[in-house]
Amino acid sequence: MNLYVCGKCGYIAFEVIPEACPVCGAKKEAFEQDNSAIKSPVDPNNLSELEKKHIPVIKIERKCGLIDSGCLDVNIKIGEIIHPMQSQHFIMYIDVYLDKNFISRYHLTAEKLNPALGIHLKVKEGKLLVLENCNLHGRWITEKDI
Ligand SMILES: [Fe+2]
Repeated sequence: MNLYVCGKCGYIAFEVIPEACPVCGAKKEAFEQDNSAIKSPVDPNNLSELEKKHIPVIKIERKCGLIDSGCLDVNIKIGEIIHPMQSQHFIMYIDVYLDKNFISRYHLTAEKLNPALGIHLKVKEGKLLVLENCNLHGRWITEKDI
């Protein structure tokens, strides 16, 4: 998989460099290819404690009543063992993609937030990809079909 990293904000584009970064607006010249920009577990069937703390967990709920026309709740936590949120070690942001197209970035601060996010989708199908960036341990992803 070809990964292109925005030199300004760290956003990752999959396969194709966008004309402008959807997070910070940087021009495509700001992107550099780095196919190792996302970490992956050494053995997906036998995760280490560090891997369990960083790989996002996606939970899809289908019962949200917040939006009258219908709403698909997606809850995300980092990770299966909850990641620390301390000033020296925390989750900086969570990026959400649908079918590898960017949807949203959620910035986190360490003091008051859990490493988690709830989003309300108006789409009913596709493949969600959640990417988190830990200030010490880099980027990790999880994908899940809606
Ligand atoms: Fe970490």
